[in-house]
Amino acid sequence: MGFTMGLNLVLLFAMVATNILSLYHLSSTLQSKPPAPPPVPDHLIHQLRTIRATINHLTHLHPSAAATKPTKPTIPSELLLYTRISPIASSCRNHPDLLHQYMNYTPFTLCPLDNDLAETLILRGCHPLPRRRCFAQTQPNAATSLPTNPFLPLPDNANIWNKYTCKSFTCLSRFNIDLGFDMKVEKLKFVTYKSDLDLPIQQLLQLAKSSHSVLRLALDIGGGTGTFAAQMKLQNVTVLTTTMNLGAPYNEAAALRGLVPLHVPLQQRLPVFDGVLDLVRCGHAVNRWIPVTAMEFLFYDVDRVLRSGGYFWLDHFFSKGVDLEKVYAPLIGKLGYKKVKWAVGNKTDSSGVKNGEVYLTALLQKPVSK
Ligand SMILES: *[C@@H]1O[C@H](CO)[C@@H](O)[C@H](O)[C@H]1NC(C)=O
Ligand SMILES: *[C@@H]1O[C@H](CO)[C@@H](O)[C@H](O)[C@H]1NC(C)=O
Repeated sequence: MGFTMGLNLVLLFAMVATNILSLYHLSSTLQSKPPAPPPVPDHLIHQLRTIRATINHLTHLHPSAAATKPTKPTIPSELLLYTRISPIASSCRNHPDLLHQYMNYTPFTLCPLDNDLAETLILRGCHPLPRRRCFAQTQPNAATSLPTNPFLPLPDNANIWNKYTCKSFTCLSRFNIDLGFDMKVEKLKFVTYKSDLDLPIQQLLQLAKSSHSVLRLALDIGGGTGTFAAQMKLQNVTVLTTTMNLGAPYNEAAALRGLVPLHVPLQQRLPVFDGVLDLVRCGHAVNRWIPVTAMEFLFYDVDRVLRSGGYFWLDHFFSKGVDLEKVYAPLIGKLGYKKVKWAVGNKTDSSGVKNGEVYLTALLQKPVSK
């Protein structure tokens, strides 16, 4: 057992080393003069990270892959060509098998139906993904009228359902009414006040108005099917929504509602310029599962895109009660924003009770002097 394990690790190391070499070879052919060799510690750290990522990847995604005899990967010709045109994210190199699979297609024909693979790569930091020269598969039933109301039932025939067990939006709602696909449910979100953790849109607009501020343009981070953007659209406010698909067609649903879905993972720099937004909202997706340092980068990126006097809304952020006090409140405090609203309440679902978690809903205003 121990011997096999050891052998597997040696083989794994050999495979990783081969990949590093081939990728290094790949990158070194891109530059006119070879780059100076990196200092040894960095290189070692990089190798260790790659190995750790590969082990994680192999054990999580393909439990049997570690046992198969490694072979030298062949790099798809489309990937070779693309890397001569444009750099690709360094994290892509930690997942050569996935990347090769993604770039292994026949150019100028229909692309494979592999959105899951694309998202898997993006979520592992391979973002932006390399471009491909193929035709993405689309549903021929396009919308024929302007979506004046973003709460109309979603048309099933405008989506590609192949990879889902469900074949309709109603089916997804039956599975879980709260996923964001039942418009009767969505219509009621962000408009009512049930506890201090809620901030209905009318109250939000009123708070902005009373400080002589106006909300025109906002970003909703991890916004699912775009319901916040939909409610704000009724108030003539434009909201961009970052959303991933994670097992259901959230991006497609937002688009069908006439809302802008940005297919952007949490770790990516926000794709807007400095100081252009009036409001950034972080929903449930931003919570204690994000490593603190990553969260700090996220918060400062929010600060970057907010205009002075703009608002940062943490909506039902959750963490352990003790961490809110010791970690997150000080982290938020470092931004130096004015606390327009700060409400904390117990998270009363089973995992919340088990872990002693609390919710924080905070509306923070960026100082005008900054
Ligand atoms: C939004 O704009 C439309 C068209 O200008 C206007 O009729 C409507 O009253 C506005 N709604 C709000 C809530 O301001
Ligand atoms: C919240 O939970 C803590 C224990 O985790 C308890 O002591 C406290 O009374 C609760 N607060 C409310 C308002 O329920």
